[in-house]
Amino acid sequence: MSPTAKPLLRAIRGETVTSHPFWLMRQAGRYLPEYRAIRAQARDFVQLCLTPDLATEITIQPVRRYGMDAAILFSDILMIPYALGQGLAFQEGEGPKLDPIRNRSGLAALAETADLGRLEPVYETLRRVRTAIAPETTLIGFVGAPWTLSTYMIEGGSSRSFSLVRAWAAEDPEAFSALINRLTAAVIAHADAQIAAGAEVIQLFDSWAGAAGADGLEPWVIRPASRIVAALRTRWPDVPIIGFPKGIGPSTEAYAAATGVDMISIDTTASLAFARDRLQPICAVQGNLDPEILVAGGPAMIAAIDAIVGHLGAGRFVFNLGHGVLQTTPPEHVAELTRHLRSIAVVR
Ligand code: CP3
Repeated sequence: MSPTAKPLLRAIRGETVTSHPFWLMRQAGRYLPEYRAIRAQARDFVQLCLTPDLATEITIQPVRRYGMDAAILFSDILMIPYALGQGLAFQEGEGPKLDPIRNRSGLAALAETADLGRLEPVYETLRRVRTAIAPETTLIGFVGAPWTLSTYMIEGGSSRSFSLVRAWAAEDPEAFSALINRLTAAVIAHADAQIAAGAEVIQLFDSWAGAAGADGLEPWVIRPASRIVAALRTRWPDVPIIGFPKGIGPSTEAYAAATGVDMISIDTTASLAFARDRLQPICAVQGNLDPEILVAGGPAMIAAIDAIVGHLGAGRFVFNLGHGVLQTTPPEHVAELTRHLRSIAVVR
């Protein structure tokens, strides 16, 4: 089957589709009992990501259950710090823990380039998924954007205030810029290897872009993303790139225009009229459904889906959430979402 027969790729390119293609950020994970069963077999989360048998199965689980138009590789954005030699562990219920980089000597201890050999099982997973999924299903690979990766690497884990990373970027922009450049090169190399292994789309997750602040947006978010898109375009001109600069509000328009991403992922705070009028003329748009509404389900969810499709369905559009599926999501609500979306006619 030629790639143009895949609904998700067709929608990104603005070609006709018979129903609105969809996938969900974090569609594989703890809300699914079949995920929890496999999770219990692995020593730890990093090992799970590096075990192709298990990672392949987890990648396919949500697609088998619901028939999404895309499978997203089961891995984590923090595999890049791991490949740069930074200590990484996931503690049950506490999220990721990294040996934090706080200054120039911490930076010097980090490898110059990512050791992609350590990520070979990730590429093996992609090769296996690609042969296991239906020809109409698109395989999405992903990377964390340099700024979001730097927040975890400097804070040592998840953060609410981002005070350490912001302080470092402000006080020693030269060293911080060296970190961002190193991450930009690692992101390009990792995305390139994923495409070589079978990824047909790459999503660039900049989940904490909003924390870069007005002055940080250009140097730490937009410029690295532009370099990543340009580098991948040269090597893989037909592979679409999705940008997810979460939390930057109306600056999303500048991000889309400057980076040249093929599709923008909008968060739950985005205005649908803004996305239709300002973003869709530049690129395709996915996203916006509040993951909490998916937890709630029922008439409120149906109304929210209709509002998104009503605003964006006539343009280049893929249905998705504004952030990842929450652990408390009843699996039946994803089935309900799927049924409703499949019942909506595409009106152009
Ligand atoms: O289904 C998919 O979307 C693919 C898999 C995927 C995971 N993480 C699996 C995962 C993807 C695309 C990610 C991206 C990711 N990882 C992001 C960007 C997207 C976002 O949510 O903003 C970020 C910030 C991370 C870093 C990360 N990984 C955190 C903060 C945590 C802990 C919080 C949590 O949900 O547990 C993780 C762990 C993680 N990554 C889990 C999964 C399924 C849970 C681990 C477990 O099973 O114990």
